[in-house]
Amino acid sequence: MTNEEIIRAKKQVEKIKILEKKLAAKKEYLMNKVHLCFDEGKTDTTQAEDYILNYFWQHAYENYIDGGCMSNDLVAIEHRFLYESSFFAKLFADYKIDKDGAALDFGCGSAKYTEFFAKNFKKVIGVDISESTIEKHKQNNKLDNVEYICANILDCKIKEKFDFIYDGGIFTYIKDDLLVKEIIKKLTSMLKNKNSIFLVKESIAEHKRIDYKSINYIAYYRTIKDYSNFINWDEVKINHVKQLGWFRKYCNIYPEKLDEFYKNPLCIDKVVPNYNKNGLSSCFFIAKGK
Ligand SMILES: C[S@@+](CC[C@H](N)C(=O)[O-])C[C@H]1O[C@@H](n2cnc3c(N)ncnc32)[C@H](O)[C@@H]1O
Repeated sequence: MTNEEIIRAKKQVEKIKILEKKLAAKKEYLMNKVHLCFDEGKTDTTQAEDYILNYFWQHAYENYIDGGCMSNDLVAIEHRFLYESSFFAKLFADYKIDKDGAALDFGCGSAKYTEFFAKNFKKVIGVDISESTIEKHKQNNKLDNVEYICANILDCKIKEKFDFIYDGGIFTYIKDDLLVKEIIKKLTSMLKNKNSIFLVKESIAEHKRIDYKSINYIAYYRTIKDYSNFINWDEVKINHVKQLGWFRKYCNIYPEKLDEFYKNPLCIDKVVPNYNKNGLSSCFFIAKGK
C-alpha cells in the first residue's frame, strides 16, 4: 500500500463515520416515530403489525440459533428441549396416543420438535410460515416419515386427519380473537378420533391481555381465561419453559438441582412457579378429539 492509498482509505473511513452517525440518528428518529404511534394508540395499526410479524418470522431463524424461542443461549436451548420433549413423552404415555398414527406440528420452526415427533409417530407434517426455514428443512430432511409445508395457519389447506396436532406458539402472533377461535375449531376438526390430542403451547399473561408492540417484534399475550373462552380444554397446565433463562440462574446458585433436572427435566415444574408469580408464562392447553 502506498502513502496515497493509506490517506485515501483514512479519508473514506472518516466519511463513513459521518454517514454512520447520520444513519444512526435517522434510525432512532424512525423507531421513535413508530413507537410513539404504537404508544398513542389512536391509529388502527393492524396492517403494520402484520407486516412486522411476518418480517420477524421470515428472519428469526437467521438471527437466532433457536428462532422458536428467540435465543442464542445454547444451555437454555438444551434445557428447553429436554424439558419439552419430556413433557411430550409423558403426554403421549398418559393419553395413550396411537404411535402408528399421524402428527401435525404447526409452527414447527427449527423442526427440532418435528423430528422428535417423528420418533413417536408413523407420519409427521411440519408447517411454518417462514419460507427460508421450510426450504432448509426440505433440503436437509433425511426422515422418510416427515414432510414440510410452508403455509400460513390462516389459510391452511391440509385435508388429512391426525392423532396429534401441536400448535407450538402461533396464536400469540394472531391479533384477532375470532380468528384464533376459528383456527382452533378447524384444527380440532382435523383430529382423527376421541383418542386424538390437540396440544397448544402459548405464552400467556398472568392478569390481563397484553398487546406488545415494537418496531421489531409484536406479540399478543392472552390470559388463560381468554384461551379458555375459545374451547372447553380438557386440561390446562401452566409451565415456565420461557423462563429457562431464569432456571439457569437458579442452577448456578443451586448446582445440585441441575443433576436432578438432567435425571428428570419435569422436576422444574415444582420449582419455577415460586420465582415467577407475575410474569409471562408458557401454558399448555390440551383438548381431546370427539
Ligand atoms: C414461538 S415460535 C415456536 C416454534 C416451535 N414450535 C418451537 O417451539 O421451537 C412460533 C413459530 O410459528 C411460526 N408462525 C408464526 N405465525 C404463523 C402463521 N400465521 N402461520 C404459520 N406459522 C406461523 C413462526 O415462523 C415460528 O416458527
